[in-house]
Amino acid sequence: MSEELDRKPIDDLLARASSAISGAGNLDSLERERVRFLGRKGEITSLLRSIGDLPKEKRPAFGDSINEVKEQIQKLHDQRKAFLSRDEGDGDFCMGDPTLPGRRMISGGRHVLQKVLAELTNIFFGMGYSLAEGPDVELDYYNFEALNFPVDHPSRDTQDTFYINKDILLRTQTSPVQIRYMEKHTPPLRIIAPGRVYRNESPDPSHAPEFHQMEGLYVDRNVSLADLRNDVTHFVHAFFGPEAKVRFRPHFFPFTEPSAEADMTCFVCRGSGCPICGRTGWIEIAGAGMVHPHVFRYAGYDPDAYTGFAFGLGLDRLAMLKYGIDDIRRLLANDTRFLRQFWGETGLEVLE
Ligand code: PHE
Repeated sequence: MSEELDRKPIDDLLARASSAISGAGNLDSLERERVRFLGRKGEITSLLRSIGDLPKEKRPAFGDSINEVKEQIQKLHDQRKAFLSRDEGDGDFCMGDPTLPGRRMISGGRHVLQKVLAELTNIFFGMGYSLAEGPDVELDYYNFEALNFPVDHPSRDTQDTFYINKDILLRTQTSPVQIRYMEKHTPPLRIIAPGRVYRNESPDPSHAPEFHQMEGLYVDRNVSLADLRNDVTHFVHAFFGPEAKVRFRPHFFPFTEPSAEADMTCFVCRGSGCPICGRTGWIEIAGAGMVHPHVFRYAGYDPDAYTGFAFGLGLDRLAMLKYGIDDIRRLLANDTRFLRQFWGETGLEVLE
């Protein structure tokens, strides 16, 4: 007799068991199939009993084959059982009611500050500025010393500055990028340097310990105060609209001389005076001035050959003014209920 004939009842059994198990539609009928094939009085058992009818030398091989098939059937059963249990489980896999409307997927969107930053860089790129960057963790040298801050200047005080050690701090302004950039480039240069800055201030609606600035720096031969005024005014008109008026008030910064603060007409009352502008009709938007000769010397430039202007814009403040946001802390809170109003229809609107 050939091997094939010996195996036929075993193969038949496997084929029948496998189609019965995969056809079981619920756990009850699966259990009936298990008893039929694997149970104590099941088909496997009776096949094993039939070994006695075989010639002695064929018995071990036949027995091994039956055990193999038994294991296979057990495996098929276990898989089917796991599958049916999920289906009949707590509803995780339930199809649900296909007539209900679908759930809306929420895709993210641009943060309002990123949106403002994109608008500003667009405006300044259009005026010939390029982008520069510096580190948030900065040396005292770049943040203060090379910017001509006297050693005892109050903003070096630990009240305002987060010091990491006596030489390293979290930058309190983006102005150190001026020095870093000038050290590596020769004029003419025209850059903007946006970034996060840190000051140890108690949070309130207009103060946060982290906020954002954008530095501007233009250095060439014969750069004048009129050039500064032109660029700041152009930016205000492009960002807020041509009705906005700009004025400069004398001020003091150690790294510019002369120094000024730039105001624009209040966007709420348009100049007549309201609570937003402290009834002055004007809102401060930038610090600015002509680069101080000492700063040029620190950067390795000849102050007799070059002049330049610098300005620093508060990005959070610009965002608040443009979009009517009443509390700077909202910009850091990552609350999507607030942020999503700036996302646009799909949340995916792209500037440029
Ligand atoms: N760095 C100044 C500040 O944070 C702003 C400024 C920048 C002023 C550039 C003048 C020139 O207050």
